[in-house]
Amino acid sequence: MVKICCIGAGYVGGPTMAVIALKCPEIEVAVVDISSPRINAWNSDHLPIYEPGLDDVVKECRGRNLFFSTDVEKHVAEANIVFVSVNTPTKTQGLGAGKAADLTYWESAARMIADVSKSDKIVVEKSTVPVKTAEAIERILTHNRKGINFTILSNPEFLAEGTAIQDLFNPDRVLIGGRETPEGQKAIHALRDVYAHWVPMERILCTNLWSAELSKLAANAFLAQRISSVNAMSALCEATGADVSQVSHSIGTDSRIGPKFLNASVGFGGSCFQKDILNLVYICECNGLPEVANYWKQVIKVNDYQKTRFVNRVVSSMFNTVSGKKIAVLGFAFKKDTGDTRETPAIDVCKGLLGDKAKLSIYDPQVSEEQILRDLAMKKFDWDHPAHLQPTSPTISNKQVSVVWDAYEAIKDAHGICIMTEWDEFKKLDYQKVFDNMQKPAFVFDGRNIVDVNKLREIGFIVYSIGKPLDSWLKDMPAVA
Ligand code: NAD
Ligand code: UGA
Repeated sequence: MVKICCIGAGYVGGPTMAVIALKCPEIEVAVVDISSPRINAWNSDHLPIYEPGLDDVVKECRGRNLFFSTDVEKHVAEANIVFVSVNTPTKTQGLGAGKAADLTYWESAARMIADVSKSDKIVVEKSTVPVKTAEAIERILTHNRKGINFTILSNPEFLAEGTAIQDLFNPDRVLIGGRETPEGQKAIHALRDVYAHWVPMERILCTNLWSAELSKLAANAFLAQRISSVNAMSALCEATGADVSQVSHSIGTDSRIGPKFLNASVGFGGSCFQKDILNLVYICECNGLPEVANYWKQVIKVNDYQKTRFVNRVVSSMFNTVSGKKIAVLGFAFKKDTGDTRETPAIDVCKGLLGDKAKLSIYDPQVSEEQILRDLAMKKFDWDHPAHLQPTSPTISNKQVSVVWDAYEAIKDAHGICIMTEWDEFKKLDYQKVFDNMQKPAFVFDGRNIVDVNKLREIGFIVYSIGKPLDSWLKDMPAVA
């Protein structure tokens, strides 16, 4: 019987292994983690992550051929295939700080695998890692191997949060990279056989190790680059009277460009785009390619510019000060259908508004008060460590921030509304009721382009929507930093 163990029960490890267990009933899958609260949650009715469809998959296989455990060593020792899906945060100190990937968790997982293994194993890189990580991992494993053979594969994950189960059921491709040796090829076939239970063969791409590792970073860089490109256009649209949605639609109908990932926004967030591009930039610099590094750096700079631009619009429209004014922040997650707040643009926007002494009332249907207050207090990059190893930061003053459990409560007596996440419920609010309950003039700043701008203007709102023709009020108040 094939036994799989996955180290890391996070956003990737949990859903990916649950789907493998569902589709391969004859394979026993154990997901292990050093965090007992996370494992306890996986074994409860309240899973540690919110992902549409995940509950049903877990319910069907948990206890049958899917197990969640903190007994990391036992399950690793018993497995034939060990996936490693641990955090790979951006380094905050030392060589490459602010750019390079911190492989501390990966290295400790590799050393543990070498220590506890008593039989040959395929070790699969599931985490996103710098190119050539497999070589470093191979060295750790082979120098400590006690006669055991380890074959390393790269099998990066392309799922997006909020659609993870759909993406796993029906992936555009599964990528498996391995050494071009007989052992490497044998391991590739063994892993391909697992995915072949439900993924058509032509969608399982097999490459060398370095192509697989680099393809993951390249895919995220290309996706993020599209968003920064359209966001750069959104600034030009506001300056010229063009409408970014019309521009996106027009260019997206060109089959060479395609319509996806062209929605202008307050900026991209999520745990990976920024981290992976910084990692790519660092690799380019280490390989003596400063021009290539600078090209990709620009994607992040435009993303930061977009968030700053948004804050400046809010402040400048409201008579150049938000001091003491109540601003309702609708949505805090980095996109809809997830409770994940890692690198959400809402953090930078809220911090910008707090810097101008605004009073924030924040509502997100899936994010807890504790999480929001922690995010607003946390230093850059500290979030991407296992929860119990995150540095403790002072919490934010609750005089300036309140977290509420209803959009109408957040909006009551507010001077302005900032829409940070495109949750469907924000499209369906009764905006007349909202208007009636706000201070006047009442402002809406839509960072996701979800409201009907004309309808809101008819009600009486002053509306700013990213990349849309400006309200005459805003035209007279240019947002200069
Ligand atoms: P996560 O923080 O949700 O999960 C990682 C888990 O690993 C944590 O629960 C942590 O406690 C555990 N862990 C860390 N070190 C460990 C160790 N030595 N032994 C056992 N457990 C350990 O992270 P994630 O979002 O699942 O991301 C994991 C990797 O996958 C990252 O490299 C990320 O870049 C990549 N990735 C993420 C996504 C995504 O959508 N989140 C998509 C594709 C790839
Ligand atoms: C992204 C990739 O889409 C996945 O393929 C990849 O596996 C994953 O990163 C990863 O490596 O972690 P994810 O971050 O979960 O997935 O979500 P996306 O749908 O890509 O959205 C990322 C951010 O871009 C969100 O803040 C979203 O709101 C924003 N976005 C997306 C836009 O602003 N405009 C768009 O057109 C699309």
